[in-house]
Amino acid sequence: MNVADSELIAGILQKEGYKQTPNIDEATAIFINTCAVRDHAEAKVHSRLGNFNRIKKSHPDVIIGMLGCMAQNLKDEILENKPYIDIVLGPDSYRKLPVILNNRLKEQKHIVDTQLSRFEVYDGLFPSRKEGINAWVSIMRGCDKFCTFCIVPFTRGRERSRNPKRIIQEIERAIKNGFVGVTLLGQNVNSYKYDNIAFTDLLKQVSAIPGLLRLRYTSPHPSDVNEKLLEVMAESKNICNSIHFPLQAGSDRILKRMNRTYTKNHFLKYAKKIRAIIPGVGISTDIIVGFPGETEEDFQETLEVMDIIKFDSAYTFKYSSRPYTKAIEYDEHIAEAVKKDRLDRLIKLQRQHTLFRNLELVDQVVDVMVEKESKKSSEYWSGRTDSNKWVIFKKDTGNIKDIIPVRITAAHGVTLKGKIEGK
Ligand code: 5AD
Ligand code: SF4
Repeated sequence: MNVADSELIAGILQKEGYKQTPNIDEATAIFINTCAVRDHAEAKVHSRLGNFNRIKKSHPDVIIGMLGCMAQNLKDEILENKPYIDIVLGPDSYRKLPVILNNRLKEQKHIVDTQLSRFEVYDGLFPSRKEGINAWVSIMRGCDKFCTFCIVPFTRGRERSRNPKRIIQEIERAIKNGFVGVTLLGQNVNSYKYDNIAFTDLLKQVSAIPGLLRLRYTSPHPSDVNEKLLEVMAESKNICNSIHFPLQAGSDRILKRMNRTYTKNHFLKYAKKIRAIIPGVGISTDIIVGFPGETEEDFQETLEVMDIIKFDSAYTFKYSSRPYTKAIEYDEHIAEAVKKDRLDRLIKLQRQHTLFRNLELVDQVVDVMVEKESKKSSEYWSGRTDSNKWVIFKKDTGNIKDIIPVRITAAHGVTLKGKIEGK
């Protein structure tokens, strides 16, 4: 989401004639786009800002801007603690950046704009995309789910969806510019709703766009996943057979305290349906350990659910208290050492599951899109399967963006090794 927002911001500034520089010492203005979802993300920003402060000491005219969710979260506090920051802009204020930048260049005044909007979806702007293969396309913004651990509804505001016509125009343009893949983005991507067009309808429309080879989306909420969505995924050749299916926790008591709105059984039932309806699907997840009140028994239930589903991959987090959220007021916060111990055990189990799922692919021939040269050797390609796994294989043939059949020869941890079939 932040990569997409940064591309959007770069697009807004380029339209006004600004250029990006690879050399930070040369910059007239430095912007940092921030995430507030966990304190670890915020700590990284604070440390980066320390570097910018040093730059400002030697170049006092440079403008420093903090954009995005942390700006929304910390607002005036930032100006008090870090007076070298000139501009603080929340996630709904990026359009104002050129005007603000202009004013700021003329007069020395700090500017804070963190007004959230019920309407801003950044239509009519074209992000400045760099990657060349996959275009991130934001289809909805904000979140109305209010999971009790999550700051996003407070920093990103209310859910709003983009006009499907504009989304399709943007994708057609990206394809014209050489992109072959698209990832539809939203905090709650499958809550998408514009007039009577729901997420599954949009997915179908996008999948029919000529020249689109791979279509993905992230992040869905399990309560909004239904059979129709899974069937559309299974039927459409260019919709990738991979799904992010965030569990968060395995015990009903904790799920309820998290306000996740589904039960362990519902989640298990749908995970089973996903594997049954979409052959060869890759399922990734998000899991939080050490949510306030989580007992060892609750944690064991998370491990049990993992054991049943055997996710292909997982993003795992220690619970981190976030301002404004309901969970911050809960009793029984978990000691750091306990969180760390649970996270270690969870990661260990997930490693086994990832290896298990990857070993299932050994000796199979899978379609791999060549995405880049392998970092380890210029003689190897690095590509992704439909199910979102990276494969390294000898460059016997093919070019970047080609989809080629690769026989998987080995699975080591998260990486697969392969050989182009027929070579
Ligand atoms: N603490 C830990 N993890 C969190 N996430 C969101 N908020 C928190 C928090 N307060 C995780 C969730 C979410 C992912 C994007 O970040 O797992 O799905
Ligand atoms: Fe946060 Fe829950 Fe909304 Fe996801 S669904 S952005 S975890 S509040």
